[in-house]
Amino acid sequence: MAQFDPETIHDIEGVPVHSVHRHDVIIVGAGLAGMRAAVEASREYDVAVLSKVFPTRSHSGAAQGGIAGALANEEEDHWEWHMFDTIKGSDYLGDQDAIEILVKEAPVVVREFEHYGAAFSRTPDGRIAQRKFGGHTKDFGRGGPILRANYAADRTGHVLLHTLYEVCVKTGVRFYSEYYALSLIVKDNVCRGVVAWDILNGGIHVFHAKTVMFGTGGYGKLFKITSNALANTGDGLSLVLRAGLPLEDMEFVQFHPTGLYLQGILVSEAARGEGGYLVNDKGERFMERYAPDKMELAPRDLVSRSIQTEINEGRGIGGKDYVHIDLRHLGTENIMKKLPQIHELAWKFLHVDCTKDPIPIQPTAHYSMGGIPTNKDAEVLADGKEKVVTGFYAAGECACVSIHGANRLGTNSLLEASLFGRRAGKAIVRFLRETREFPALPSDAAKKAIEEVESLLSSGGSEKVGALREELQEQMMRDCGIFRTGEKLTAMLDEIHKLEERYRNIQIDDKSGTFNYDLLEAIELGHMLDFAEIVVSGAIARKESRGAHSRTDFPKRDDEKWLKHTLAWKKDGGITFDYKPVVITRFQPKERAY
Ligand code: FUM
Repeated sequence: MAQFDPETIHDIEGVPVHSVHRHDVIIVGAGLAGMRAAVEASREYDVAVLSKVFPTRSHSGAAQGGIAGALANEEEDHWEWHMFDTIKGSDYLGDQDAIEILVKEAPVVVREFEHYGAAFSRTPDGRIAQRKFGGHTKDFGRGGPILRANYAADRTGHVLLHTLYEVCVKTGVRFYSEYYALSLIVKDNVCRGVVAWDILNGGIHVFHAKTVMFGTGGYGKLFKITSNALANTGDGLSLVLRAGLPLEDMEFVQFHPTGLYLQGILVSEAARGEGGYLVNDKGERFMERYAPDKMELAPRDLVSRSIQTEINEGRGIGGKDYVHIDLRHLGTENIMKKLPQIHELAWKFLHVDCTKDPIPIQPTAHYSMGGIPTNKDAEVLADGKEKVVTGFYAAGECACVSIHGANRLGTNSLLEASLFGRRAGKAIVRFLRETREFPALPSDAAKKAIEEVESLLSSGGSEKVGALREELQEQMMRDCGIFRTGEKLTAMLDEIHKLEERYRNIQIDDKSGTFNYDLLEAIELGHMLDFAEIVVSGAIARKESRGAHSRTDFPKRDDEKWLKHTLAWKKDGGITFDYKPVVITRFQPKERAY
């Protein structure tokens, strides 16, 4: 038990840990947001990236279908059209000033990737190839689906992630792979670093920094069926809550319409972008009933609700809880060229050859629209509104700027992560030019983290982490999923409180210091319980249906009462809410139909 033996813990500047590392910039998370910020800041400063997994295994690599940007390579397009679609897609909860930045800077960010060497698919005349995606339209929604998703076959995230990793290596970014952040050091509203555990070798390390950035990703693992990787347990969100800071709009969770049946693994929206059909047990293209104009290329919230309705009303395949996505008419050559990964995943996981048979799919928890409130320069907001936490930044899925409002459009997440990661990097450079000194490290910087680990290891209870996690995931899927009611959500909150109680009585069998997944999963579960309470309480409070938050007991959107962002803190054992207005600059809220 090397790392927790008091004999091996020593004092460095009053901090009882194994070692203290100092870097100008510490970035937690090696996805697109974290690595894009690292590229930017490492041109002038000493940057280290801590990652729970090896950087190129970060979850951005699982995004398949494309990165949005009105490049107009294949047909007429304008940032104003992209802006309108993103706002309408968000069910008018996205902040329009931030969205304007997103859509205007998108072409620059995509072309930068091209210049870094990203292997995009190409048009016959050599430009970046573009495809259709749900909710992206021509002419402010008046025209049909538009070619706006810039893609690399159906492996776009993978290609962009590897590209950024290569650039980071070139610019001298220091990687601490398989380091797990345990706490955020914030004192007097100044961020001073993080405490992390070296998963592979053991040992608690303090990372002392002038600036910290979180690109810690999402929390799909809170749900039983998810497209998310094992590591996506939302750790950063919980660390922020525990530092006394708020989270924003956490009640909005996106279910991607097409996850491989029972596995949840993503079947990219590119499959529908390329012309795939959704079909029920009767062989009907049922989207005709729900979105007669945009059909399969309606936004995700609507398509997921449609699939779930078909299933709930007994029109799932064989009466079961899935429908089909049919790609056969696209032709083998087209499928193998544009959707090779989908072909491979369907074959490997379900033994379905999608050139010959339709693929069984069901909605899968995919993305969190909410997160750590930031301003447009990715500075974290202490009050969720205006006051920044000095030296602390966040971007990508863990952050809420808010671009996606109540429902994100596909391909806007690779864009948001890269673009706001880039903005974070630039803001960090500006900050560091003014800030020569490291902020003082509190003498008890690592105390909370060490206490947490020690108390988990010494707890002599009887509850198993895996069993508690499964209960949480199953219940969240059932009671806080695509369709919600006040009654189910209240029951869910009650369950979370019971699970929290049982969590205090968990048993860690593995007491070793190295690669202790028993301990890691226990810490992750503590995090998930922390913010699950915020997700569910926010959903109980929001008595309307908007975007991905669909309350069957309040089926209408209510702009009069709920055109506002939720801010939530954990305080004195309870949850405190506040709200802030949505920024509306160009497009007034309207009824949303596709
Ligand atoms: O369907 C997809 O390829 C996922 C893309 C996204 O979530 O943006």
